[in-house]
Amino acid sequence: MKVTVVGAGAVGATCADNIARSAVCQELVLLDIKEGLAEGKAQDMMQTAALLGFDTRITGSTNDYSKTAGSDVVVITSGIPRKPGMTREELIGTNAGIVKGVCENLLKHSPDAIVIVISNPMDTMTYLALQSTGLPKHRIIGMGGTLDSSRFKYQLSLRLGCSPADLNAVVIGGHGDTTMIPLIRFATWNSIPVTSFLSAEQQQQIVADTMVGGATLTKLIGTSAWYAPGAAGAALVASILRDEKKLFTCCVSLDGEYGQKDICLGVPVTIGRNGWERILPMDLNEEEKALFAKSAEAVRSMNDVLKTL
Ligand code: LAC
Repeated sequence: MKVTVVGAGAVGATCADNIARSAVCQELVLLDIKEGLAEGKAQDMMQTAALLGFDTRITGSTNDYSKTAGSDVVVITSGIPRKPGMTREELIGTNAGIVKGVCENLLKHSPDAIVIVISNPMDTMTYLALQSTGLPKHRIIGMGGTLDSSRFKYQLSLRLGCSPADLNAVVIGGHGDTTMIPLIRFATWNSIPVTSFLSAEQQQQIVADTMVGGATLTKLIGTSAWYAPGAAGAALVASILRDEKKLFTCCVSLDGEYGQKDICLGVPVTIGRNGWERILPMDLNEEEKALFAKSAEAVRSMNDVLKTL
């Protein structure tokens, strides 16, 4: 199995590092436009192999896509990250051109690859990848909800004093500070509803903190986060290559599901060897349905910006 990660910045490199450690592929190519960056980071990672005991061969490439040929999965992290005070949406003008070009180059050499999109604004970049490549919809997966759901579990674990791994909780909708929907009503602590342990006020706070999870880190660090985004990308790669059929929230093309069409938005899906395989329905109440529709409206107006570029 072969995986390519495009973008050797913090998110791409962390994603590659996690993929190598999880031993799901024999070959891993890290690619970047900046001369030497991918080669250097690939070598640095390979110098952990003896210590960590993994067998994945990681190589770097400065923009030579022929090195990525025959990849089973490609992960796109390219683009500029947001600075403090910026929204993910403000990146669209720059990142749309980058993501489109990267998709074309990748598919020339790996026509059968499954594509994972991490670049922001993630929902619009996923839609762009789908539109510009014309690939079957099951092969285009936006990572956002996987990350946001993990952040949601972290926030819940702090208040509940429990292990994040014992929680089931999903964030659906867009991957924007105001478009994501942490579904606290459905969240459970090993099957017990978390709402039975938390006051209404605590619940509201957890939801609010989850929604600004990325922005909070951008403010603290000075650029956008990478450990959790990288780990989320790697978890999706593992589920594809091992055909795990694990349930994640991912940004996928909707065709009537959740009342939406002609849009890529976060919903619960199984991830396996064919990409995203099934969309799971959720019995949303009126308020949650309205939030989802509002999120779709905001993402759709972002997608419309693509036409003006
Ligand atoms: C974040 C970026 C990766 O949420 O979107 O940290």
